[in-house]
Amino acid sequence: MSEAKLIDGKAFAADLRGRVAEEVAAYTEARGGEAPGLAVVLVGEDPASQVYVRNKGRQTVECGMKSFEHKLPVETGEAELLALVDKLNKDPAVNGILVQLPLPDQIDADKVIAAIDPAKDVDGFHVVNAGRLAAGLDGMVPCTPLGCLMLIKDALGEDLAGKRALVLGRSNIVGKPMAALLLRESCTVTIAHSRTRDLPGECRRADILVAAVGRPKMVGGDWIKPGATVIDVGINRIEPEEPGGKAKLVGDVDFEAAKAVAGAITPVPGGVGPMTIAVLLRNTLVAAHRQAGMAPPAI
Ligand code: GUN
Repeated sequence: MSEAKLIDGKAFAADLRGRVAEEVAAYTEARGGEAPGLAVVLVGEDPASQVYVRNKGRQTVECGMKSFEHKLPVETGEAELLALVDKLNKDPAVNGILVQLPLPDQIDADKVIAAIDPAKDVDGFHVVNAGRLAAGLDGMVPCTPLGCLMLIKDALGEDLAGKRALVLGRSNIVGKPMAALLLRESCTVTIAHSRTRDLPGECRRADILVAAVGRPKMVGGDWIKPGATVIDVGINRIEPEEPGGKAKLVGDVDFEAAKAVAGAITPVPGGVGPMTIAVLLRNTLVAAHRQAGMAPPAI
């Protein structure tokens, strides 16, 4: 059998950012020069979060939107963060609000997410948006699963109806919304997790396999149905064996083994990873349209 087609998330994300930039320009002109605005809040100095936030800010500006960065010290209290969220909710220049996770221990993340205006919740983490997605209503959809769906449709064509999809992982951020999106596409959806019996057997039935468990190379080549579309959400850092060596990023799927069996597969890095910020920008654009009473573009 031939090798799997590589799903180039980096190229798809770049293309999506280009389409967002065009629509941002049209929106800004229609609004008399007022560009959409995205506020990102970072509490503390977690190095990975700092990198994410820097990349978000840069890409927001590159596509023509306004970026508002709020960096708060690690000892910030919950009440102070809630007061900032309240201020951003009321600020008409801010169309999207993202509070970077994880938050320090003294802050209840659920409480903070609940305080964000659902119309500005571009992460799609608010229970109102989770409920809207579950009910099949328009809302804000979490960025990573929506990016995965875009890649799946690009690889398979638009019509996913009737395909067997398996989502490995049941987090609120990826697994559950991913399953809801695939169900909305009329897939037959299974959610598998750490307590699932015969995980390899469940995976082998899937035409579409989305792995989001955070366990390096957990999905072997013999877990994959020949010709399946495999989306690997895992980004696991493997420390170097010898001192001074370079850390390596691997997914939840054993890529080398899987690409000999799958029909199409995302690499790590360069697969799902670049899609998250691109979809965040898309969500901010959509949120701005809705807040202005304009129909959002179909991107
Ligand atoms: N931390 C890592 N990824 C994300 C994300 O997509 N959104 C938020 N809010 N925090 C994160």
